[in-house]
Amino acid sequence: MAEIWTDKVIIITGASSGIGRALALALAPYAPKLVLVARDRVRLQAVADSCEAAGAATLVSETDITDPHACFAMVQYAVARFARIDALINNAGISMWGAFEDIRQLELCERVFAVNFWGGVYCTRYALPYLRQSQGRIVTISSLAGLSGIPMHTAYSASKHALHGFFESLRIELAGSGVSITMVAPDFVQSEIHQRSLNADGDLLGQPLSDHYDFLSADRCAKIIIDAMQRRKRLALTSLRGRLGRWAKLCCPQLIDWITKTAINKAYRR
Ligand SMILES: NC(=O)c1ccc[n+]([C@@H]2O[C@H](COP(=O)([O-])OP(=O)(O)OC[C@H]3O[C@@H](n4cnc5c(N)ncnc54)[C@H](OP(=O)(O)O)[C@@H]3O)[C@@H](O)[C@H]2O)c1
Repeated sequence: MAEIWTDKVIIITGASSGIGRALALALAPYAPKLVLVARDRVRLQAVADSCEAAGAATLVSETDITDPHACFAMVQYAVARFARIDALINNAGISMWGAFEDIRQLELCERVFAVNFWGGVYCTRYALPYLRQSQGRIVTISSLAGLSGIPMHTAYSASKHALHGFFESLRIELAGSGVSITMVAPDFVQSEIHQRSLNADGDLLGQPLSDHYDFLSADRCAKIIIDAMQRRKRLALTSLRGRLGRWAKLCCPQLIDWITKTAINKAYRR
């Protein structure tokens, strides 16, 4: 079934690491044309080399997605090379951990929004004309934090909630166009995001969360995302607690608050 990706042009932002890298490597054996986007060219090239060895054609685009002009140029570069776009996976993201009252420079919140929200908006805007032509797919990697509030994660959670508002609205605008929008809200995944998170001072956290090795692997998460993209699902969740939590929140929100606080206290022990 995954053969539908053969020759398809797929843009993956945040492809140099974690879930984005795992997505590229999982798709590569189906011989797609992958446009690999992130800022670190060396790491992107290493992912591209592995994807090419597995059967994909690749294009590396060193792009900071917080810059709308760079996003426009990336899309033009992709179309100049591969002539079409079949899927855009808005995956790049950064995180923050810290109590809101400890954040002294509120610019930190803007930095999180610049990547997590605006980066996805820019890439989508510029890729959309081509996705309309191909009746393609937009996949946006949100988080469980985009469906429910998470303590110590205010700006991150808000940026992910904003993605849901934006893409759920856009889905209605695009009804009948053939373009699908899939939101993915993963639970914790093993990746570099946690150690690369910003703390309340705006510095790097520098270490993974304490139960990092209990998290879902990036490879497993990538398979769930590809399945959802293939089936043009509206929303994909990666954990049972994510699925149950959505419904439980409707009838007993205080219980979900307590479970969330307990889980975060365990993970963010410092
Ligand atoms: N890991 C989890 O527990 C988890 C859970 C739920 C949702 N998510 C979401 O999953 C997505 C992927 O995260 P991950 O866990 O795979 O994290 P990761 O390993 O830190 O990867 C993040 C990717 O985003 C790229 N990126 C960051 N800032 C960028 C910018 N300004 N422009 C372009 N690319 C940028 C990074 O590449 P460069 O540094 O080279 O630019 C990297 O490739 C994120 O949206 C995250 O919020 C993760």
